[in-house]
Amino acid sequence: MMARKCIIISGCPGTGKTIVARRLADILKLDYINLSELVLNEKLYRNYDVKRETYIVNLRKFNRRIREIIEVSSGIVVDSHYGDVIPSRYVKKVIVLRLHPIELKRRLVERGWRIEKIRENIEAELINLCTLNALDRHKGRVYEINVTGKSVDEVVEEALDIVNSKVASRRYIDWLSILSRSDFTSLFQF
Ligand SMILES: Nc1ncnc2c1ncn2[C@@H]1O[C@H](COP(=O)(O)OP(=O)(O)O)[C@@H](O)[C@H]1O
Ligand SMILES: [Mg+2]
Repeated sequence: MMARKCIIISGCPGTGKTIVARRLADILKLDYINLSELVLNEKLYRNYDVKRETYIVNLRKFNRRIREIIEVSSGIVVDSHYGDVIPSRYVKKVIVLRLHPIELKRRLVERGWRIEKIRENIEAELINLCTLNALDRHKGRVYEINVTGKSVDEVVEEALDIVNSKVASRRYIDWLSILSRSDFTSLFQF
């Protein structure tokens, strides 16, 4: 029988994926894998896109390798910006971390990222990109946590509730309908 072994933690860079996914894996005694690190460490990319400052994944190599990893694992928390790269038959739940774009901007500025890169990620958060990508492949299994103003502990608690099926409703955040005009103005002023 094919077990659904993967819990995917997705979201824009800076939303807290890594810290939350590691804690979750610890608590649930599951394996942990960071897909960007996997791609880099095992050179599962085709080339580097200089303009976007990102590696282009070699999907053939990546798919083969991720299947191997999942097959030998008894359960795994997947830390990935891309919620849609794992075959859906392996996926138990996708949890997308959502962060208020103003706070996201603050964190990325703190990280010292270039303005272009920050803008790209603010836009991705604004248009719900990670959630839409996850829904594309994992419809019915996609949940969100609004991490804004919450401690890591609180976020992990919510994630555990989702994993343990204590969260029934799936309501998705839409920053575009929530943000004020002055929010938008300050978002794109650097
Ligand atoms: N709930 C939170 N409250 C405050 N800071 C957080 C929270 N979650 C993460 N952080 C901080 O934000 C930064 C990004 O977290 P990280 O886990 O690296 O995010 P990601 O893996 O999504 O890029 C780190 O400095 C982390 O300590
Ligand atoms: Mg990370």
